[in-house]
Amino acid sequence: MKTEVVAVESSRPEAEAIRRAASVLRGGGLIAFPTETVYGLGANALDADAVARIFVAKGRPATNPVIVHIADQDSLLNVTAAWPETANLLAARFWPGPLTIVVPKSPRIPDIVTAGGPTVAIRWPAHPVAQALIREAGVPIAAPSANRSTALSPTRAEHVLNGLDGRIDMILDGGPCSGGLESTVVDATGPTVRLLRHGLVSVPMLEEVVGSVELASCANEGVARSPGQMKKHYSPQTELRLIAGEVLLDELLQATHAGRKVGSVMFHGVGLALGTGSGAFISLPADPILAASLLYDTLFRLDRIGLDLILVEWPPETPEWAAVRDRLTRAAARD
Ligand code: TXA
Ligand code: MG
Repeated sequence: MKTEVVAVESSRPEAEAIRRAASVLRGGGLIAFPTETVYGLGANALDADAVARIFVAKGRPATNPVIVHIADQDSLLNVTAAWPETANLLAARFWPGPLTIVVPKSPRIPDIVTAGGPTVAIRWPAHPVAQALIREAGVPIAAPSANRSTALSPTRAEHVLNGLDGRIDMILDGGPCSGGLESTVVDATGPTVRLLRHGLVSVPMLEEVVGSVELASCANEGVARSPGQMKKHYSPQTELRLIAGEVLLDELLQATHAGRKVGSVMFHGVGLALGTGSGAFISLPADPILAASLLYDTLFRLDRIGLDLILVEWPPETPEWAAVRDRLTRAAARD
């Protein structure tokens, strides 16, 4: 299959490009598109065969359910069987945006979308290209991140092409994603909201709206739990190790002395990048939102320059860094 890359203006996507992509979606095809978090790989969520193609293209285990994307309130009726009050409060505050809410699923949603489970994860993305595509398609869009399973999530069209060239119909290239990390996933089916995945909406932000939030074991850093929360995930090809800031320099010098080419990533500053014969030093912003927006692109770049090892400084232990810590812990996991 030839994968076509179609450039679109990110804030006001060209109608013709959106019409073409929507028609591919309605015909059962796969379209990668930008969201404010990462690029998604979309298929018609009501078409089981189309969604099955997502799993094949990504090499994704069938046990891992996918998120259904909508672009208006009325669509909720089509995809859910119930809409709890907590879901309502969270949606009112954070939608459109980087929050995914798990609720009871409508019988109209094929089992493959939810990995056979009784719940469905719903998100209303804020990105104008994602919204235009969903609206024009006229159907909810099932979309995981547009990467091969366990690899880094793509924040640019070139990252998508890198993993999925020849496996999908089209990429809508709307430039880099501003958020850079996946959405927060919460389960709103019980009396207390449970966090299933850390993301751009932090726990303190959720707790402002619904009171205390339970941390499901899979949302605890490094702890695996089904569905889909396998430990190794979001990983570059190059070995990545997370190292406490105090000993990072020692590790770096030792590895370099042993003849290894090392890339190091710290969170101290203004995007400083220094390349040398034996590696690269990168200092990402000390602000968690800015660091998140650059993290995957930085790891993609380091992955491409033939390093033996990537050392990443352990980020601060505050709630605002939880999503970055979670992704890095999984990136460093061996299996
Ligand atoms: O930011 C994002 O969330 C991106 C963009 C494209 O929207 N999507 C994304 O999808 O990251 P994916 O498939 O890579 O991650 C979806 C996560 C997985 O951890 C999956 O297990 C969980 O959501 N999930 C999906 N449906 C679920 C359900 N019914 N119950 C519990 N977890 C669910
Ligand atoms: Mg993913």
